[in-house]
Amino acid sequence: MFTAADFIPEKYTSTIENGSFQWSAPSNIALVKYWGKKEHQIPANPSVSFTLKNCKTNTKLTFSKKEVPNAFSFNLLFEGKPKEDFKPKIQKFFERIEVYLPFLKEFHFTIDTQNTFPHSSGIASSASGMAALAMNLMSLEKALHPKMTDDYFFQKASFLARLGSGSACRSVKGKVVVWGNQANIKGSSDWFGVEFPYAIHDNFKNYQDTILLVDKGEKQVSSTVGHDLMHNHPYAEKRFAQAHENLDLLKNIFETGNLEEFVKVVESEALTLHAMMMTSMPYFILMKPNTLEIINAIWKFRNETKIPICFTLDAGANVHVLYPENSTKKVMQFITTELVDFCQNGQYICDEIGDGAIAQ
Ligand code: DP6
Repeated sequence: MFTAADFIPEKYTSTIENGSFQWSAPSNIALVKYWGKKEHQIPANPSVSFTLKNCKTNTKLTFSKKEVPNAFSFNLLFEGKPKEDFKPKIQKFFERIEVYLPFLKEFHFTIDTQNTFPHSSGIASSASGMAALAMNLMSLEKALHPKMTDDYFFQKASFLARLGSGSACRSVKGKVVVWGNQANIKGSSDWFGVEFPYAIHDNFKNYQDTILLVDKGEKQVSSTVGHDLMHNHPYAEKRFAQAHENLDLLKNIFETGNLEEFVKVVESEALTLHAMMMTSMPYFILMKPNTLEIINAIWKFRNETKIPICFTLDAGANVHVLYPENSTKKVMQFITTELVDFCQNGQYICDEIGDGAIAQ
């Protein structure tokens, strides 16, 4: 059985004075949602996501050995400029992962990071950002321990990314990633994300995700606060059990390619996530009127055309529109004529299933 201690390294075999690495890591969109966690970033239920392709964070990590390894020391650049308000999150991340990367205090780091998606688009960059940083730190660990296997490298990167932000552990690999123990999914783990280990039907090949930016403002509820609301939530236990059931259903759907069933599970998951927020104490409504306008328009379009288009939501008002590649033309026509008016400044982002983190 795996334990976290398996990621505490033995003595390193090499040394390195300075250098740099660069990785990009994508965002991901959950189909079965992670909402609720235990201590040490252990999820209350398993989740599964599509890794995205275009929405990503690109991070360059420059490092140089310090004289005295007494404290964490790093500069943070976001889109080329110093960004003080991201620093506490990184500091906390370093504190959490130090036991697994004991060299952290030995170096001064410059973390130079940018996103491909517009800043304050309401798209969370914590998943892609933490994944990209974790990949770079693993490249440094590999330089100190060149015999490291690829399996260990990626698994530990996901493990570390999870400690930065839970959903980040699903951004290391593609195309479909499971995080959290699920009895009949081989290798699934609460500690890191794993690639869905079975064949996936061709219906999901290049599956499309057009993200409609309904509200680009600051998040009303941070995910940390949101996850906390699941403690003592009246429906929590039932919800956690349902996530297991829905993941089972999706496991079958990925194999059979049954898109009608896919639509049902995915939309139900999105609405359940929001139902959990509406029924917690304190309670929140994170959808906006235009979110509902879009959902109703999608249902009408699906009814009329029989195209298996569906929506999912994050902890916010934006809508992810999911559909098979072969209906792209008709769906894009629908989006540009009927849905863009509900987007803030008419903004949307075209994305699709992707492969995970890439060394630059
Ligand atoms: C609604 O991964 O952002 O997007 O672990 O506290 O950083 P932390 O939370 P985070 O939560 C994501 C919640 C979600 C659902 C999901 O992605 O599964």
